[in-house]
Amino acid sequence: MKRLFTVLFVAGLALGLLSAGMQGDKEFSYTGVAKCKMCHSKDKTGNQYAIWQKDKHSKAYETLASEESKKIAKEKGIADAQKAPECLKCHVTAYGVDAKLLDKKFKIEDGVGCESCHGPGSGYYSNKVMKDIYAGKLDGATVGLIEPDEKLCVTCHNAESPTFKGFDYKKFSAQIAHPVKPLK
Ligand code: HEC
Ligand code: HEC
Ligand code: HEC
Ligand code: HEC
Repeated sequence: MKRLFTVLFVAGLALGLLSAGMQGDKEFSYTGVAKCKMCHSKDKTGNQYAIWQKDKHSKAYETLASEESKKIAKEKGIADAQKAPECLKCHVTAYGVDAKLLDKKFKIEDGVGCESCHGPGSGYYSNKVMKDIYAGKLDGATVGLIEPDEKLCVTCHNAESPTFKGFDYKKFSAQIAHPVKPLK
């Protein structure tokens, strides 16, 4: 009896671990900025979309076609920066991610979009889920929402960037701040 119990217990534990692992590996897909814009473009709640549109992240793909980019690319022997993995990896969202995880409306032209910092949106973009996360009733991490911090920024803001001049988290995050109003 005791033995059976142990076997069952171990089996249950394994199953639990397995499903926890699957949860962790669950693949959320990238919806594209247009989806976030649907709800996050109201002035009353901070219009995060409009703020992002004015910040350089939204132009990061476009930048790769600028004269400055052409010059950098030439020096590195790159024909077209907008097609080069060496540049795209930091200038667009979800670079290198399996194409099946990019939804129909996902656009590379959006550059460093919402989901570059907040994680792929397919699991959290519904109104109910968003409200529950905001109210602290649901842990965003379980549905793919990332809480962006300095560690995330420096995956792109580092010396591998050909134009890097340093990164000051406090200063830089103030520059892109897009809080929900009124502040929580
Ligand atoms: C159907 C509407 C809807 C869509 C679509 C949506 N959101 Fe939200 N989101 C909300 C609401 C409502 C809140 C709660 C705050 C508020 O009232 O604005 C929220 C809150 C958030 C928060 C704060 C969560 C926290 O930790 O408190 C983040 C970050 C966020 N949304 C990012 C996104 C991103 C990125 C997308 C696109 C992938 C997206 N949202 C799409 C409605 C939406
Ligand atoms: C996926 C890569 C990536 C991530 C992650 C990222 N950035 Fe950026 N960031 C860029 C790129 C690329 C540019 C330059 C865009 C351009 O000028 O076209 C940029 C530009 C900026 C600028 C404007 C700098 C200037 O010279 O005017 C600020 C401010 C900034 N980022 C802040 C942040 C902060 C804060 C975080 C983390 C919360 C962050 N970024 C995360 C890629 C990223
Ligand atoms: C370069 C990274 C970056 C990009 C791009 C970005 N965000 Fe954020 N976002 C942040 C950071 C950092 C915070 C602050 C997180 C915190 O306070 O914990 C934040 C906070 C938020 C919040 C919560 C604000 C609050 O008051 O609680 C919402 C909502 C949000 N972002 C939506 C968006 C939407 C929608 C987009 C695209 C239109 C977007 N973000 C693009 C980094 C980013
Ligand atoms: C490791 C990530 C990373 C890589 C790789 C990268 N960039 Fe950037 N790029 C950034 C970030 C972050 C910024 C903004 C701040 C800075 O210059 O570090 C930026 C800014 C720029 C700017 C300046 C835009 C402005 O507003 O002045 C140009 C031009 C540029 N990148 C071109 C390129 C080209 C061309 C490549 C490929 C050869 C490339 N980048 C590769 C992260 C990267």
